[in-house]
Amino acid sequence: MIAPPASANTPLLEDLWAFTKTETVLVAFELGLFKALIATPLPIEGLANQVQIEPVALTRLLNLLQTWGYVTLQANQTVSATQQTTHLFSSPEKQASWHAYATYIRQVQAAWGGLPSTIQQGTPTGSAFSLNEAEARFSNLNEGLLQLHAPLADALFTALLPYLPSHETNPTCHWLDVGAGSGVWSIPFLKAFPQGTVTFLDYPSILAQAEASTALAPFKNRMRLIACDFESTSVEWQPETIADATVVIMGNVLRELSHEGRVNLLKKAWHQLTEAGVLVIVETLTDAKSTTVPLASTVADLHLLATSFNSTGCLTKASLTALCQSVLGATSGGIDLTWLTIDAMKQQGLAGVVIKKSIELG
Ligand SMILES: C[S@@+](CC[C@H](N)C(=O)[O-])C[C@H]1O[C@@H](n2cnc3c(N)ncnc32)[C@H](O)[C@@H]1O
Repeated sequence: MIAPPASANTPLLEDLWAFTKTETVLVAFELGLFKALIATPLPIEGLANQVQIEPVALTRLLNLLQTWGYVTLQANQTVSATQQTTHLFSSPEKQASWHAYATYIRQVQAAWGGLPSTIQQGTPTGSAFSLNEAEARFSNLNEGLLQLHAPLADALFTALLPYLPSHETNPTCHWLDVGAGSGVWSIPFLKAFPQGTVTFLDYPSILAQAEASTALAPFKNRMRLIACDFESTSVEWQPETIADATVVIMGNVLRELSHEGRVNLLKKAWHQLTEAGVLVIVETLTDAKSTTVPLASTVADLHLLATSFNSTGCLTKASLTALCQSVLGATSGGIDLTWLTIDAMKQQGLAGVVIKKSIELG
């Protein structure tokens, strides 16, 4: 019997060399190859000149990028973007978002490199980030998430419509976005309520990005940006500072916090609601018992261990429900909690839940 060759088709070897895929794609971003190729196919020499790289080395990189499906090399030594690449980078906004996301991945690689000691100690040790650098860590991520979450935000808003007043009866209603990032989850509301207003809470540099964002540009005069550390007690969440809201939304925020941080933030958000208002939580959930957890969730859970000093990891449906029941139910004497069914979100490991004060009958 002939022993099977130890080739790259061996799953273990494929996994061990999987980093080469990440590296070649990151290098393509960093050298500006995607940007150059989206405009037009180019001879390799011409591309090398444009991005100022040595042509033979560039060809070796392009060979692997072709294997991953990003470029096509013609026999006449011309290189073009594949359909997939052209689609991914079809607008300057998409190019900027993916570039930011790639930068974020480069930033977090060092933290994953420290995973052995992080797992031994239970907290990030080889991390690229200190506690004070949390702000810097989010700026590239948020810009990347904008592309990824924009279609999901539309789907979420549609699912929320039954919980919102109509814009004819309540045209000026107010929405509070906690840890708003790119503001992605608020954009469908700003579109659908032409007189509605949104308050964004986030770190100063993140809100400076929101201020400059093309996606938010049409809504500038209806946005209020409050730069803060929202965990700090110095931020007073009172109507004098932040108007009461019909919707308080928190997208991918609880996962970043400690248990105490989650409890405090939930309480503050709850007190900020109008009588008929709803709290909307979007979270990457994971459930250790399920075998069908999307890869995005299990990666996110370990990623939080690698990079976040505070977080206890992703929540599960059960733990988020229990947290809301104990924190919000205790304040209000009962809550109504409804999980939204949105397939597009589920596929990305995201879940949405709407919580309101329960109405006592009789
Ligand atoms: C994972 S991002 C999610 C952003 C956005 N909601 C989304 O889903 O795309 C978490 C956001 O919370 C913000 N954030 C986390 N901790 C914060 C704090 N203590 N004070 C202010 N903002 C904070 C981060 O800056 C970041 O924009």
